[in-house]
Amino acid sequence: MLRRLIRLFQKAPTEQTDEHGIVLDSVPNHVAIIMDGNGRWAKRRGLPRIAGHRAGMQAVKEITTAADDIGVKVLTLYAFSTENWKRPTDEVDFLMRLPEEFLRMELDTLMKRNCRIRILGHPEGLPEHTRKVVQDAERKTKDNTGLILNIALNYGSRAEMIQAVKQIAQQVADGTLQVDDIDEQSMEKSLLTHGLPDPDLMIRTSGEVRLSNFLLWQAAYTELWFTNMFWPDFKRDDFYHAIREFQSRGRRFGGLK
Ligand code: FPP
Repeated sequence: MLRRLIRLFQKAPTEQTDEHGIVLDSVPNHVAIIMDGNGRWAKRRGLPRIAGHRAGMQAVKEITTAADDIGVKVLTLYAFSTENWKRPTDEVDFLMRLPEEFLRMELDTLMKRNCRIRILGHPEGLPEHTRKVVQDAERKTKDNTGLILNIALNYGSRAEMIQAVKQIAQQVADGTLQVDDIDEQSMEKSLLTHGLPDPDLMIRTSGEVRLSNFLLWQAAYTELWFTNMFWPDFKRDDFYHAIREFQSRGRRFGGLK
């Protein structure tokens, strides 16, 4: 109550906020999330790690809806990194089944919400059953114009940048690009995120304070927000808390305010 009152007085009179105190005309366009802490969440409850991932899937559902409700345009979720293959086989197998389970339950709702699903990563490295389901979802939702739910699966930023550099080098070798013309735009065009705005806000749960090979190029000016909460405990109100903090920061992009 007190916090809400303080917020009310802090806002400029012209700013329109919703019932969560979010300023409606400065909602971040792109939010990226490192959904960490599923394993520890499960361990605290004496459950197997996979129970944490299943609970994490519920949080995905809640946060996707929460993001869509306030008008976020792109939500990028780090679901499986190129380094996660090092985990025990049964955990990897489970994680590779989760997108299917999620889409089986949620695709209709996402369609109704006009959400578009995009997979960020290297699909050729996924098991065939996972690849098929996620590519089907991409196809079915490709004409939707609402929230882009960008699921990072078999994604690693260094691998993405190496691929981009190879693509650019090939263009130089073919004579279609001059070395002097290589700039940020040529790099952006060659990244897996081409066509998407850079993330404005990146959230990481579980108390770890690092980027773990996630969107390293794209996060050059992203606001970072960390919480000690484990991902399965992360709820709509926590997401809105992060958004409000984002809105209270001054972004300068290297310039002056
Ligand atoms: C990190 O926690 C989490 C993952 C590697 C998997 C995240 C996946 C989900 C939340 C489900 C995603 C589902 C869809 C459909 C997108 P951790 O296992 O490293 O936790 P720990 O650090 O506590 O061990």
